Amino acid sequence: MDIRQVRHFLGEDWKKVEALFEETLHSDVHLLGRTNGYIRSNQGKMLRPVLSLLVSRACGTPGGDSVKAAVAAELLHNATLLHDDVLDDSIRRRGAPTVMSMLGAKASVLVGDFWLVKAMKTILACENHTKELSDIFAKTVLDLVEGEMLQMEKAGSGDTSEDDYLRIIYYKTASLFEAVCSSAALSVEAPQELREAVTLYGKLLGMAFQIKDDILDYDGDALGKPVGADLREQKITLPLLGALRQMDADREKEVRQMVAGIGEHPSNCAMVAEMVRTLKGTGYAAERLEEYVKEAKESLRALPASEEKDMLLGIADYCAYRTI
Ligand code: IPE
Ligand code: IPE
Ligand code: MG
Ligand code: MG
Repeated sequence: MDIRQVRHFLGEDWKKVEALFEETLHSDVHLLGRTNGYIRSNQGKMLRPVLSLLVSRACGTPGGDSVKAAVAAELLHNATLLHDDVLDDSIRRRGAPTVMSMLGAKASVLVGDFWLVKAMKTILACENHTKELSDIFAKTVLDLVEGEMLQMEKAGSGDTSEDDYLRIIYYKTASLFEAVCSSAALSVEAPQELREAVTLYGKLLGMAFQIKDDILDYDGDALGKPVGADLREQKITLPLLGALRQMDADREKEVRQMVAGIGEHPSNCAMVAEMVRTLKGTGYAAERLEEYVKEAKESLRALPASEEKDMLLGIADYCAYRTI
């Protein structure tokens, strides 16, 4: 699956998304306008607005609110990245220097706030179901903050369990995918059964998407962002949890302490990464990932047959097999 081809398939609907996106990011303040332009010129996969339009077309006939929901999703996503790069102290994204590394953490937070509020304003400009759509997006913003805070809390202690991990990735990533799909279905007045189906699909897809991101952090090479960053940040993600499962209790405790001590002893990183490789931790994560992908596809059963539905099924596989 090539996301560019899906954007091409979306034709006029996609052009409307691009146009509103561009218009929304205008600022008369030169530094802000230029920074927004920089982010736009290094845009990512645009997966969330693609998903949003595919869902609205698979469930009905998209109108102005569908375009707004799609644009809001990408605005919010970028806001979270601008903030996340500060939290993770990350210098590269999409193959280019981050705003944080060029202009500093203060600017990255402020620009992130601009994108966040633009996302909310875009939703508030919807003509129908405005309150419900605002609630959907407000919930996901709160989830995102809780996810990042929980991750921060856990990063210091080295005691992340698989349940903690699943909770963190639901909050920080899957919640937005869920919001993208449910807002898109609402924007076309989809019947309840379809709304529930695509909301579940979005959640499962988001879980799969973040698990793959965490696998790529161990074995990716064309990511456009630093590899190995999670361990350096003391994050215990699924590949490491997969390796820990194979250790006896004493060894597991020792390794968890090594992870908690990475801040003071950065050389622990290489040792833990080697353990994950030897014990095939990414293989374990890939198995869990495939379960989510399978369930995500199954959740679309209620949708009537269409090219859009086929593409949504293809996107589920794409999340599992992507390399960027
Ligand atoms: C990155 O998302 C953040 C995660 C949820 C893992 P994407 O991989 O969709 O980022 P871009 O927008 O394509 O760069
Ligand atoms: C994604 O988590 C969290 C967001 C909500 C932005 P990561 O920290 O793994 O994302 P990347 O790897 O920086 O894109
Ligand atoms: Mg990050
Ligand atoms: Mg990551």
